[in-house]
Amino acid sequence: MRHNHLINAKQLSRGDIESVLDRAAEIEADPQTAFGTHSNTILGLLFFEPSTRTKMSFDAAMKRLGGSTIDMGSTESSSVKKGESLADTVRVIEGYADALVLRHPSEGAAKLASEFVDVPVINAGDGAGQHPTQTLLDLYTIRENAGLDDLTIGIAGDLKYGRTVHSLAHALTNFDVEQHFISPESLRLPRSVRYDLRESGAVVHEHTDLETILETLDVLYVTRIQRERFPDENEYQQVAGEYQIDATLLDSVNEDLAVMHPLPRVDEITPDVDQTDHATYFQQAHNGVPVRMALLDQML
Ligand code: CP
Repeated sequence: MRHNHLINAKQLSRGDIESVLDRAAEIEADPQTAFGTHSNTILGLLFFEPSTRTKMSFDAAMKRLGGSTIDMGSTESSSVKKGESLADTVRVIEGYADALVLRHPSEGAAKLASEFVDVPVINAGDGAGQHPTQTLLDLYTIRENAGLDDLTIGIAGDLKYGRTVHSLAHALTNFDVEQHFISPESLRLPRSVRYDLRESGAVVHEHTDLETILETLDVLYVTRIQRERFPDENEYQQVAGEYQIDATLLDSVNEDLAVMHPLPRVDEITPDVDQTDHATYFQQAHNGVPVRMALLDQML
């Protein structure tokens, strides 16, 4: 992946994924092997949408590698507020940084940005499109907890607007994984994603009821209903709170079930789950640093 852009999880072969995950595991086991290895590197952080985990873990990852970061700031405090285009913004900042991490509300924004610059662009979430670096840390967490082959995973919640779902589903087709998609009818996987999964040879199992499938799962990946993407608040209200995972619901599941969530959560996993052995989502968030260190190490 050296010097390439990372825009879509479809770019990632099994070999690419295993290479990043293996390097992340080495870094986690012995961080000294990575400290200071990119001391002259500057990473540009361009977040046109809110973020806690992605932005801060890229920041931490670059600094742990010995490099530094520059942050465009919010759309309110930068010249985006004055009407500067995305193309002009990235063309300017490529002169200040060795790679750009971009989050944007519009699907396709990272691809567009990559066409205007020579430095690598890393898609940190483009609207309801893709979030490939989240997928790498998701896969790392799945591998740590359940392995990546002979696995049954349930992916629940907002499958229509959830970009982490779109990326993860594509990446999982590289492995021997049975994928079950659980959502309200109105939030099913987009037709284009279903088509791509089937083209990759995946069997797409879709459900509206979580409880019928729960006991068969090794991993349950829960997502937030993406309120900010709904064109109409009434549509959101019709599906809000549709799935709620609480400790009682988990009483009869496989004792090794890993409950994951890209976070932030709103009310789809209740705090009593945090005390159970199933709760894997904070470990998942923490894995963002070694995985993004490994990714930057390979791309730069
Ligand atoms: N998982 C994730 O993308 O979180 P942030 O929106 O906080 O970056």
